Amino acid sequence: MVLLLGHTGYVGSEFARELSRRSIPFEELSRQRFDYSDFESLYRRLREQRPTFLINAAGYTGKPNVDACEGAQADTLAGNTLLPQTIAHACAAAEVPWGHVSSGCIYTGARIREPDGSLHVEPDLTRAEVRRIVESEPDRVEGFRETDEPNFSFRRGPCSFYSGTKALGEEAIAGLGRSYLWRLRIPFDERDNPRNYLSKVQRYAKVYDNVNSISHLGDYVRACLDLWDIRAPFGIYNVTNPGFVTTRQVIEAIERELLPGRVFDFWSSDLEFYRLAARAPRSNCVLDTNKILSAGVVIRGVEDALMDALRHWKPERA
Ligand SMILES: NC(=O)c1ccc[n+]([C@@H]2O[C@H](COP(=O)([O-])OP(=O)(O)OC[C@H]3O[C@@H](n4cnc5c(N)ncnc54)[C@H](OP(=O)(O)O)[C@@H]3O)[C@@H](O)[C@H]2O)c1
Repeated sequence: MVLLLGHTGYVGSEFARELSRRSIPFEELSRQRFDYSDFESLYRRLREQRPTFLINAAGYTGKPNVDACEGAQADTLAGNTLLPQTIAHACAAAEVPWGHVSSGCIYTGARIREPDGSLHVEPDLTRAEVRRIVESEPDRVEGFRETDEPNFSFRRGPCSFYSGTKALGEEAIAGLGRSYLWRLRIPFDERDNPRNYLSKVQRYAKVYDNVNSISHLGDYVRACLDLWDIRAPFGIYNVTNPGFVTTRQVIEAIERELLPGRVFDFWSSDLEFYRLAARAPRSNCVLDTNKILSAGVVIRGVEDALMDALRHWKPERA
């Protein structure tokens, strides 16, 4: 039996759907019924119930966006750093393997391959020279690997408070027991939802253009469970659809597939976006997916996943 924390949330509810689809017995734990952030209670429960696996899809995300975390720092730290630390200790003590929903937002930029073959980290993918490479020589853009130190964290700032706590959460788990750290990045799928990236970009008054790896939510959850199913080695995995997209590509696909005739407005520069629309710095980054693919998990490319979501789009009121 699997224990699922955070099933009431956007990501947790997808885990619940997929576990049901696979006929894997699971029990959902919500803070309303059980304080899973308390070490003693959680440890006792794990010892008594002896689950085969635990999934932590609980955490604090700012709503409507990451800026909200700047004004709720205690909750953000509790949900994203202290909670995974407590779960890691309880699972290690009770010898329960587990998986944690982490985030790719602990990086900014990408690794760019120079003509001489060397790689350098470029933290700002909006720079004109870098955008030229993204658009005309995409093969030179490589993602951050699981072994790369986060560069959008409290240790290597600036960062948002949210990202800082997610990076600390990974540190708090490292070296304790047996766990997967599944890095999710900008979730989307075909179901219109205020948390879905494809819904969000349609509702912004103005769109912020950048370059990112993104995760189809269903693909993400399937890939996370597949890692456990095939007993892949524990550790950190970037779980995004291989490749990357620019916001302009996403908008063009939305205009083509969903909203012909609609003209989207873009912020003219980073400076304008941060002056008028954002409180916290944003992570925009490319992640390398070779580790999860080499482990034997099948995950479709980002363009396929994006087009599939748009072609099967289910508007909220439908
Ligand atoms: N959504 C994204 O864009 C995104 C991207 C990358 C990573 N993630 C990560 O995915 C995880 C889940 O995110 P989500 O989008 O599903 O969030 P969500 O919809 O807000 O759900 C999170 C769930 O976590 C539980 N929880 C436990 N401690 C909490 C706390 N201190 N404050 C608030 N909720 C708490 C709540 O469930 P109960 O009260 O029922 O126990 C809540 O329903 C988080 O760790 C987040 O950092 C999300």
